[in-house]
Amino acid sequence: MPMQSPQDLFIHELSCMHAFEQQNVQMLQQMLQEVKDPTARQPIEHHLEETREQVTLLEQCFQSLGQQPQQVTVATAQGMKQDHDTFVKMQPSPELLTMYNLGAASKTEHLEVAAYRTLINMATVMGQKEIVRTLRQILNQEEDAVNELEAASRQLGRQQIPQLMKQVA
Ligand SMILES: [Fe+2]
Repeated sequence: MPMQSPQDLFIHELSCMHAFEQQNVQMLQQMLQEVKDPTARQPIEHHLEETREQVTLLEQCFQSLGQQPQQVTVATAQGMKQDHDTFVKMQPSPELLTMYNLGAASKTEHLEVAAYRTLINMATVMGQKEIVRTLRQILNQEEDAVNELEAASRQLGRQQIPQLMKQVA
């Protein structure tokens, strides 16, 4: 079916985020299998719970539009997973894999922040007040997740990078 109206674009983008968040649940679960450090686990565990909730919140948006999420393939999510799997094949030490995962989770959240800001702009112009409220709730969680992931990454980096550099030198 050709894409003709701004509503079509909005539904498509919303469907992409619905698929993206579902894949992110899997990615965060995978990270928790690989990350043992409590400082790094905390923001990942926290955001895993939020991400599950976000899938439901997005479904509420579809309900208020009287629509169903479209079946879409999101290449960016698949690409993040591929990058992760390629890195794991390089046999990183647990410390480096933890740093990688924090960085990757942060990249993902930045991408989501951009996507939700765009969706909020569209929903605002389209007069979808309830959807704007729901998407803002998600956006706030994403922005907080970025801050928490970056804070963990900084703390861990300060603790571990100087020591790890000495080991290699
Ligand atoms: Fe997120």
